Amino acid sequence: MTETPKKLYIKTYGCQMNVYDSERMAEALQGYEQVDSPEGADMILLNTCHIREKAAEKVYSELGRYKPLKAGNPDLKIGVAGCVAQAEGEEIMRRQPMVDLVVGPQSYHRLPELERQARAGGKALDTEFPEELKFDHLPRRPKPKRGPTAFLTVQEGCDKFCAFCVVPYTRGAEASRPVSRVLREAEGLVEQGVREITLLGQNVNAYHGEENGQSRGLASLIRRLAEIDGLERIRFTTSHPNDMDDDLIAAHGNCAKLMPYLHLPVQSGSDRILKRMNRGHTAEEYIRLIERIRAARPDILISGDFIVGFPEETEADFRATMELVEAVKYGQCFSFKYSSRPGTPAAERPLVDPEAADDRLQRLQALLTKQQREAQDAMVGREVGVLFERAGRMDGQMVGKSDHLHAVHVQTDLPAGTLARVLISESGPNSLGGVLV
Ligand code: 5AD
Ligand code: SF4
Repeated sequence: MTETPKKLYIKTYGCQMNVYDSERMAEALQGYEQVDSPEGADMILLNTCHIREKAAEKVYSELGRYKPLKAGNPDLKIGVAGCVAQAEGEEIMRRQPMVDLVVGPQSYHRLPELERQARAGGKALDTEFPEELKFDHLPRRPKPKRGPTAFLTVQEGCDKFCAFCVVPYTRGAEASRPVSRVLREAEGLVEQGVREITLLGQNVNAYHGEENGQSRGLASLIRRLAEIDGLERIRFTTSHPNDMDDDLIAAHGNCAKLMPYLHLPVQSGSDRILKRMNRGHTAEEYIRLIERIRAARPDILISGDFIVGFPEETEADFRATMELVEAVKYGQCFSFKYSSRPGTPAAERPLVDPEAADDRLQRLQALLTKQQREAQDAMVGREVGVLFERAGRMDGQMVGKSDHLHAVHVQTDLPAGTLARVLISESGPNSLGGVLV
């Protein structure tokens, strides 16, 4: 007799790595099937993010919303995973006693055991940083059929200690998965129909995985992945400028499967602020680096992250950021108002006036939006690869991503998973339109 599966609801906050982690957690919890709403679930897992704002407070208020569900179903188990779980630990169960399980990002392979503990009526907590890498202890990825794109975490943690950032504390020291493990997981994904893989890591270009007793960099891993038949596209995110080595820059020029899109955050254009952020490079060095990358791959689309209102940022510092943006010309960008994170060095420094920070954020976002639009409009008249992902809203229409990661609508009856050549004919507010070549 087979048991009916229990219902698992996962709510994911934050970055793509959390999206990947949530998938792996769902796979690890055998005997559960994932559902789309918390009502009627046997287990609710919040996969939390701690990078900005009052993350912990948001988690507590979300948990409060589950109170009636727990009251109606005493067998419902509630768990908190992710970076808030790591940062808050036991405090979560103290403040919200209905939480049964707290698990930090490095311990997801212990989830089945923790779940059993919680089912047995106990409280389950694991926020250790174990020696082994969790991924290599998670079950092989069993999902029968998936879409044409997938994330694959190859590196985790960070040793850079930017003064504003919690990642080195919540995700721990940098660690890379061995080459063979990554290849095996990628081959499995391709067998399931995946044609594009985005390699994930907090500092993915610091990747240094082991192969035959030697350490391999990200470019070397990408070249190995490119040998997999059926895998058509490779991307990676997120990178630090100081880890953009010559080999990786060259790969952008000579590895056809590596897509012409690079997320390379700089955070600020002011050397004074970059120094206080502990970024380890100047604005000029970053601009030179972008020039070298563009020399290797002229049509590469650069995206980035910015923080405005970092402690002691002046109007002159901010203008330097605007100048850097003008010099680089971004294809896409994410900009944030500085948010003080307890325990980070910058949290000790005096904040800038919040109104000034809001005003700078608006000005920066206006410039970045304009650049983003210009980069998108510049695709009109060009022929690009598009990997169809799903049906569009209109009849007979498919939507996919271009090589440069723009959403593209095409009239076609080709199925999802097809990589087609498309001539871009129009540029709309959020996507491009094109015709099959
Ligand atoms: N405040 C604002 N933005 C932050 N980021 C990271 N930490 C903070 C913070 N304390 C931004 C950075 C990073 C992105 C993932 O989030 O721009 O690149
Ligand atoms: Fe955080 Fe990225 Fe800096 Fe690492 S490199 S500390 S993850 S901002």
